Amino acid sequence: MVPAWMEVKKMESHNLANLFPMMQEHEFVRLKQDIKENGILEDIELYENKILDGRNRHKACLDLGVTPRFKEFEGNHQDALNYVISKNLHRRQLNESQRGLVASRFANLPRGGYEYAKSELPIGTSLEKASKMFNVSVRTIARIREIEKKRPLEIERISRGEVSVGRIYGELKREEAETPEWQRFLDVWNFKENTGDGLSNLPPEILKNLFYYYTKENDLIFDPFAGSGLTYKVAKEMGRKCITSDINPREDFIIKWNVDEGLKNFPDEKLKNVKMIFLDPPYWNMVNYGGDGWSNTSLSEFYEKFERLVSNLDNILCDNGVISLIMMPMKIKGNYFDLGFECYKIIQKYYQIEQRISVPLMRNWSIDKRLNKSKEMGEILTSSLRDLIIFKKIKR
Ligand SMILES: C[S@@+](CC[C@H](N)C(=O)[O-])C[C@H]1O[C@@H](n2cnc3c(N)ncnc32)[C@H](O)[C@@H]1O
Repeated sequence: MVPAWMEVKKMESHNLANLFPMMQEHEFVRLKQDIKENGILEDIELYENKILDGRNRHKACLDLGVTPRFKEFEGNHQDALNYVISKNLHRRQLNESQRGLVASRFANLPRGGYEYAKSELPIGTSLEKASKMFNVSVRTIARIREIEKKRPLEIERISRGEVSVGRIYGELKREEAETPEWQRFLDVWNFKENTGDGLSNLPPEILKNLFYYYTKENDLIFDPFAGSGLTYKVAKEMGRKCITSDINPREDFIIKWNVDEGLKNFPDEKLKNVKMIFLDPPYWNMVNYGGDGWSNTSLSEFYEKFERLVSNLDNILCDNGVISLIMMPMKIKGNYFDLGFECYKIIQKYYQIEQRISVPLMRNWSIDKRLNKSKEMGEILTSSLRDLIIFKKIKR
């Protein structure tokens, strides 16, 4: 029989609970240690079959293999909201920025498209009231809303307590003063530090540029090598729909799927009429992703698998849809493998080339920092750049 703690594995947190950030890593480690030593003392409370109070305890139980205890919250929506606030506000050591974030989510003013806007919060809480409730200035809340619009990926870090609103806002204003508008958004060479969420090496600006030029709001984007899920996060920020999969999913929203299975039986039936397919596969064996993935193959098998995937994309791509591929050349023992060029030749059999440009390998790897390193390696910047190649499906 499946143990109870495994059955609850897929449990969602209630939107009301998600108003508050999860614990910071060091607090969570302490909680886990406490549960390990003393067992679970407090029940996890459920409302509408989702976790209303006890998200961290639940996660700790799952990590430790301890069976959690549950009880149903009794009361209506407003009671549930009051309960969440009283539990979190008094129990948790939230800093001013984190409190500001909660207040911003809580106040019924436009939220710049941030996910929490969709939560079922009661109407009628003004910005001023929220600012008093959470003991944070209206100015901080206004700054958070500006950050949500202009640097939305920073919100997660503010929520985790890693950076303050003041610091990000200061950076934002300095950047705006120094950089012309077109360069801030569209120059793929000039990334600022820490623009991503720390999990992916791919600068989010590359994705932003791609989506800006080749897709419109509500278009569907598909990424079958999702890795950290960055594509999904950027697509959502920009109001695009997105389906992501990976042989080894690292986030709940990523579907587990091996592309070698083809796409006919793909688990999500909404995978059709795709406007952009974004391919960031393993660069052959450069990084070992383990398992049966593409990094554990011979080079010829790698190209065969790549061609099989490309030849299957036609069924899901809409007319004039685009395929964008990120790929990087590599050198092994003095032998140069131009993976991008070889993959280009394969895709060209099926689709029409639209554009090929070089983009930085990672965020904040500016050319000047990498020049010396590249020279040491006997390469001209190859360790700093990768190819972004875009193809179009032309209606036949
Ligand atoms: C270069 S990484 C993608 C990184 C991603 N763009 C990001 O920003 O985090 C390549 C991904 O391909 C996945 N992968 C490898 N072989 C696969 C296969 N056969 N089917 C699906 N995914 C595969 C790996 O698990 C890895 O996450």
